[in-house]
Amino acid sequence: MRRYHVTTFGCQMNAHDSERIKGMLEELGLGETHTAEDADVLVFNTCTIREKPDTRLAAHLGNAKALKERDPERVIAVGGCYAEAQRERIFAQYPFVDVAFGPGSIPHLAEWLGAGGHGIARSSFGIAEERRFAATLPSSRERPFQAWVQVSMGCNSKCAYCIVPAVRGREVSRRPGEIVAEVTRLAAEGVKEVTLLGQNVNSWGRDLRADLDTEFGELLRACDAVDGIERIRFTSPHPKDFREPVIAAIAECDAVCEHIHLPLQSGSTRILKSMRRTYSRERYVALVEKLRAAIPDLALGTDIIVGFPGETEEDFGETLAVVDEVGYDSAFTFVYSPRAGTEAAAMPDQVPDEVKRDRIERLVEVVQRRARERNDARVGLVEEVLVEGPSRTDPARLRGRTRRNTTVNFTGDARPGELVLVEIDAATSTTLGGSRAVLVAA
Ligand code: 5AD
Ligand code: SF4
Repeated sequence: MRRYHVTTFGCQMNAHDSERIKGMLEELGLGETHTAEDADVLVFNTCTIREKPDTRLAAHLGNAKALKERDPERVIAVGGCYAEAQRERIFAQYPFVDVAFGPGSIPHLAEWLGAGGHGIARSSFGIAEERRFAATLPSSRERPFQAWVQVSMGCNSKCAYCIVPAVRGREVSRRPGEIVAEVTRLAAEGVKEVTLLGQNVNSWGRDLRADLDTEFGELLRACDAVDGIERIRFTSPHPKDFREPVIAAIAECDAVCEHIHLPLQSGSTRILKSMRRTYSRERYVALVEKLRAAIPDLALGTDIIVGFPGETEEDFGETLAVVDEVGYDSAFTFVYSPRAGTEAAAMPDQVPDEVKRDRIERLVEVVQRRARERNDARVGLVEEVLVEGPSRTDPARLRGRTRRNTTVNFTGDARPGELVLVEIDAATSTTLGGSRAVLVAA
């Protein structure tokens, strides 16, 4: 059995996150070990608030580096607040790190380990004999007012780079009655924001068709009707399956937030084809236009991979062009990394490391410039913010997120879980700053 080891820094919230991380790893078939030396997957769940997390982290990572040198198959993952704030810097400073993920990305861990899991052989993860939905697994909620709700598991796509189909199996949708019952129970417990989770939420319900004619838009409407749920998010939709009823539901449901994470992966139609994404650059861009026309003030996030086998400078230029054209509010950028057992790992024309590194740097520059422009445009507006806790960089201030999913650090009094109005007066490429407006959101 493959083994994992999680080291947790910082606060109670991080301890909860570590429980989630462990749950995800166990769902992948890994077992826990209490010493880093015995672990095939080493996870460091970081924090930015406590005393000198970076020096402690540096010491731990030094040890991890030595372990990785001994066994290059080992996967080193850095999660938590520091990873979120310093994602790009972590890779620059610690090139042996395979995966960096923020607290909001724990549900994507399986794919992200794919992003860096050199040599975790397909068989070592295995597909759990009896797959269970996360909802039925014991887990503590990160915050009492936010919850993840799994709507499906597995994936029927065959993206050439991705390990998920191998480790999670075919897509199985959870029944709508069960999902809505869970959302209703969560609302009664004080949850205000739910994030519906699936590898491809847009194909939710397809496997239920034998006895139930439904689709994801209908599920969004059913969740929107639950009293007490103020915000509904979902991740991730596959661009190939974004149909009218889902777009209409996002546009019409008050609780469904104006934020869509729409993985692009590549801007080159040729590479998209080789990735088996089943859409072209043109179809993706047309979808973005349709979404923006239907949903005013829509924020868009994405995932992009650079250095997929066969990617030429010209292909990469197309990715840069799409990123520039679309103007994402946020983007997760990945250096392609071959995963044993996937189609792409066996492809010829693997791109050299230094080319991949050069491309990701150029990509991050465009991503940040466009995101900064998008955030600059929010300055002067009043945004509804769901308060999450103290700011990660200045504990004297508060932190929360807008409906568009942008983190806001702001001055003023409020309790975690409260919805407040914040007047925006500052912007970076990843955050907004402001102060609490006098009016309280309804
Ligand atoms: N290499 C690089 N990035 C990957 N991802 C998944 N597998 C790989 C891989 N082998 C990225 C994709 C996906 C995100 C969750 O992780 O961009 O959308
Ligand atoms: Fe992986 Fe593609 Fe399925 Fe996402 S849609 S989980 S990238 S195979």
